[in-house]
Amino acid sequence: MRPFKAYLIDQKDGKTVAGFAQLIEDQLDKGEVTLKVAYSSVNYKDALAATGAGRIIRRHPCVGGIDMAGTVVRSTDARFREGDEIIATSYDIGVAHHGGYAEYGRVPADWVVPLPKGMSLFDAMALGTAGYTAALGIVRMEENGLKPSNGRVVVSGATGGVGSIAVDILSCLGYDVVALTGKESQVEYLKGLGAKEVMLRASLDLAKIKPLDRALWAGAVDNLGGEVLAWMASTMQQNGVIASIGLAASMTLNTTVAPFILRGASLLGIDSGYTAMPLRRKVWERLAGDMRPAHLAGMTRTVKLSDLPPVFDEFIKGQAHGRVVVDCAG
Ligand SMILES: NC(=O)c1ccc[n+]([C@@H]2O[C@H](COP(=O)([O-])OP(=O)(O)OC[C@H]3O[C@@H](n4cnc5c(N)ncnc54)[C@H](OP(=O)(O)O)[C@@H]3O)[C@@H](O)[C@H]2O)c1
Repeated sequence: MRPFKAYLIDQKDGKTVAGFAQLIEDQLDKGEVTLKVAYSSVNYKDALAATGAGRIIRRHPCVGGIDMAGTVVRSTDARFREGDEIIATSYDIGVAHHGGYAEYGRVPADWVVPLPKGMSLFDAMALGTAGYTAALGIVRMEENGLKPSNGRVVVSGATGGVGSIAVDILSCLGYDVVALTGKESQVEYLKGLGAKEVMLRASLDLAKIKPLDRALWAGAVDNLGGEVLAWMASTMQQNGVIASIGLAASMTLNTTVAPFILRGASLLGIDSGYTAMPLRRKVWERLAGDMRPAHLAGMTRTVKLSDLPPVFDEFIKGQAHGRVVVDCAG
């Protein structure tokens, strides 16, 4: 294998420094499956890692990119063969194990998901961790009783990667989706993804969250944490389910037990990182089937690996919308 390009995140004098480097195969981390990376993607976590805005990287230096999809060039594990198309996300990828912002990657076979039939490598990364997590959240909500006839489902951080895909999937599954956003300029975008209604975050009085308020939601997908999650809890219907996915606004949660013990609401923690493989595969299969978002192409833009760095700031400032695929093949 010739030397190849990678986006390496390092630390100098306690500060994050990131940039392109040439790596050789021996510098890749241990694993049974080596792949030619076709595409990666940009998630909020990638932006936190690359800019140092969050303490994400656990091993320096580390090639960034928590997602990768590509073609196997070498495998010492019987489950995968040269030429197989695969997805690798989660676990230590892009955090403590070289990630997807490179022309080649190497990962343990236990972290690999075969590309589902009917899904392209590009679509796999248009979905990426964001799409996988949105789908996992919805699967968990369904397992806890959510169905379209129960009532409306609210999605916060709706223009983000997880939010956009959650709005799209839920509306495809027949739910009445209310998109909650901070971006007045993106109302039409969200309606285009299938939102029945768009609420602006500025319209909420988050300074006065009651223990129990008017019951509005059968389901809630939360990407923000903090006051928005507390408000969601206080406005759940009887037996409503909340998928707690993100912390884009805050890590804290200041609420009361009232929604849980008086309305039977459930707060489901969604962790994409360590889902057991049978469920992980099932969720990816559903993303290629009944949970395939209808507007994935329209919500996705592509950047070349070399054009990656400026994209991170958009995510940190909460200005990005939809998904960004990284073309690693150049
Ligand atoms: N649990 C897991 O396994 C898992 C997996 C993937 C992602 N996540 C987390 O889920 C969240 C969403 O991820 P993502 O990749 O979709 O991120 P993203 O594309 O950056 O979207 C986040 C969205 O949240 C809103 N937002 C951003 N900053 C905000 C702020 N300071 N206050 C209020 N709203 C803000 C914006 O949407 P609007 O302007 O539309 O409101 C933004 O588009 C992140 O916190 C991420 O770390 C968790």
